[in-house]
Amino acid sequence: MGNVNLRNKWALVTGASSGLGVDFADILAGRGANVVLIARRAHKLEAVAEGLRQRHGVEVNVIALDLGAPGAVPALLGQLDAAGVSPTVLINNAGVGAHGAFADSEWARVHAMLQLNIVTLTELTHALLPVMRAAGEGYVLQVGSLAAFQACPYSAAYAATKAYVLSLGEALNFELRDAGIKVAVLNPGITETEFFDVSGHNLTKWLERVMMKSRPVAEAGIAALFAGDASVVAGTLNKATALLNRVLPRRTVVATAARYNRAN
Ligand SMILES: NC(=O)c1ccc[n+]([C@@H]2O[C@H](COP(=O)([O-])OP(=O)(O)OC[C@H]3O[C@@H](n4cnc5c(N)ncnc54)[C@H](OP(=O)(O)O)[C@@H]3O)[C@@H](O)[C@H]2O)c1
Repeated sequence: MGNVNLRNKWALVTGASSGLGVDFADILAGRGANVVLIARRAHKLEAVAEGLRQRHGVEVNVIALDLGAPGAVPALLGQLDAAGVSPTVLINNAGVGAHGAFADSEWARVHAMLQLNIVTLTELTHALLPVMRAAGEGYVLQVGSLAAFQACPYSAAYAATKAYVLSLGEALNFELRDAGIKVAVLNPGITETEFFDVSGHNLTKWLERVMMKSRPVAEAGIAALFAGDASVVAGTLNKATALLNRVLPRRTVVATAARYNRAN
């Protein structure tokens, strides 16, 4: 996982109240980083924070915030400033899905997803890169998805947000390669978290069978980040799927995605 020393440095993890975010926070705290945990559910964040302090003896700050609300990023930056925290690591993990036929979906829900998955992620990255550049060191992990590699009927706008995340991250990895800043995109396949309860997607039997645990997925992302890789797909089967998607005709790929992702 590289020899990056994170002792006395700060890592920000968005979406740290459940799923992958909890694992990212634990992996980074295990490497000595102090951690700021951000999500909406304060009681969950407090429980995660207490576990990290006990297991790893690091400082942990909790910021309960709706990152999908307008003005969330300036509010977050204000709280970081007040706490004297200048982050070395940013894990842009908070994200939601919206499952179902696009034309029938509720606009407010789609809009909130675009705000969180795209606007907040981009705004936070944009705000913190100059801080990292001035410090001469920084690490940004953007959480994308296997859904970024093809259009996904019945998760159409969600997959499109993740295609954006993948594109942005790979470009930033290149732009910042001489600035001492590493940017990577982690693309998980189906992973056991609260994600599908929130998105309203009932998984098919096959998808349930290939579901990964969240810990190895998060580890793959952190390893790629410190190695300087631009992007990684977690898991062998998911890697094979991403590869196949590149060589098969696009209409075949979209039809296959529709079959596994059908509205139900
Ligand atoms: N699980 C999968 O199969 C899968 C596959 C590909 C990609 N991903 C991506 O992985 C990332 C993490 O998701 P997960 O699977 O770990 O799902 P999860 O268990 O539902 O976690 C999502 C996290 O984001 C936070 N969040 C959601 N809306 C928020 C908001 N408006 N403001 C602040 N925080 C918010 C949630 O906390 P609160 O509810 O407390 O705010 C939670 O901590 C997402 O970007 C997702 O798109 C997941």
